[in-house]
Amino acid sequence: MNHKALSACVLAAFAAGAAAGATAAPEVEVLHYWTSGGEARSVAELKKSLTAKGVTWKDFAVAGGSGENASTALKARVISGSAPSAAQVKGPAIQEWGKEGVLANIDAVAVAEKWDSLLPPTVAAIMKYKGNYVAAPVNVHRVNWLWVNPAVLKKAGATAPATMDEFFAAADKIKAAGMIAVAHGGMPWQDTTIFESVALGVGGPEFYKKALVQLDQAALTGPVMLKTFDALGRIKTYIDRDAAGRDWNLATAMVINGKAGMQFMGDWAKGEFAAAGKKPGVDYLCLPAPGTAKAYTFNIDSMLMFKKAKAEDQKSQLLLASAIMSPEFQEVFNLNKGSIPVRSGVSKAKFDSCALQSMADLESSSKSGALVPSLSASMAVGTAAQGAIMDVIARFMNSKMSSQDAVAALAKAAKTK
Ligand code: BGC
Repeated sequence: MNHKALSACVLAAFAAGAAAGATAAPEVEVLHYWTSGGEARSVAELKKSLTAKGVTWKDFAVAGGSGENASTALKARVISGSAPSAAQVKGPAIQEWGKEGVLANIDAVAVAEKWDSLLPPTVAAIMKYKGNYVAAPVNVHRVNWLWVNPAVLKKAGATAPATMDEFFAAADKIKAAGMIAVAHGGMPWQDTTIFESVALGVGGPEFYKKALVQLDQAALTGPVMLKTFDALGRIKTYIDRDAAGRDWNLATAMVINGKAGMQFMGDWAKGEFAAAGKKPGVDYLCLPAPGTAKAYTFNIDSMLMFKKAKAEDQKSQLLLASAIMSPEFQEVFNLNKGSIPVRSGVSKAKFDSCALQSMADLESSSKSGALVPSLSASMAVGTAAQGAIMDVIARFMNSKMSSQDAVAALAKAAKTK
């Protein structure tokens, strides 16, 4: 059954229930953290497609980049026995929630719509708990990007960097010309965003996998990690004094308006450029983070479904899942969000040069073994180890901690279970 047929059949069931006076209006309560300009435009498309199916959208937005606040709110709701229909949860956290026994099985729609044949096997595996689909994937974000304002480069007499050395040369020139070289928000997840791109650029994908996915102690304590912290320490010197606590999208705005030259950030930043009417290749450049052109750190947003007691709530969950996977939604959402569709069968026609590059690099890196999960975006390791690792990186960014001490603290934090 395709998603249209499924919607028709679920809605017919609602109509029958309503006629018998048994069913309330279908509703989905969705917990998400898509609150910036580009994000809000994207989530509005999801709301629109649900409304078109006759489902009422109950918005449960919790602001805060990368979803730390949203995750706290979710835990509180689940503990109090009032889980939302769906929540923006991704990566290994899906398995952690599965173990709690609170997730809904959405195989009724996933099997009917043949999700196994539409999704890459690695993605399908992330969306399942013990073989059953419990989450619907929304997109693929690439994290190892550098967002650049070419007018700032020009003013500073700098050129677009492809390597770490070129990056430092450009940063020196931008700083010397009186502008901020690196736009950044001092928050642990943003610190880790820079850290992971630097680790990938300095050490390559094999090192990244060993150190930041397998948490291998030899890789964590070796010379490449020391070099990574040395480079990160140098990057600190190009960040302005007011970075502490700054939201990621405000840092992106500094690149958009020419106050700063470059930002390390996933391609949700592109959603901000797009919302501001800026054109890639003209008003801004999307460059792979220095030294990482052949690699790809992936981040897949997904909506995790929670067990609901009422039949009508379960049905609206299936409609939400079906809407998320529809080619129409995957196209319009990702055009606004800066990401690319996660499923096959979506037209590439309307996507811009950054998205096309992301699509090509996703394919080539998956063939070459250079496709790696993003640590900062919660795709690489369990939540406990991730939190401990991000704390160390944040401490390094906010103190005079030496690279040696950071390496030792990181290796210890990686043992957190
Ligand atoms: C999410 C994106 C979101 C970004 C900023 C990432 O972890 O995957 O969807 O736009 O955080 O909040």
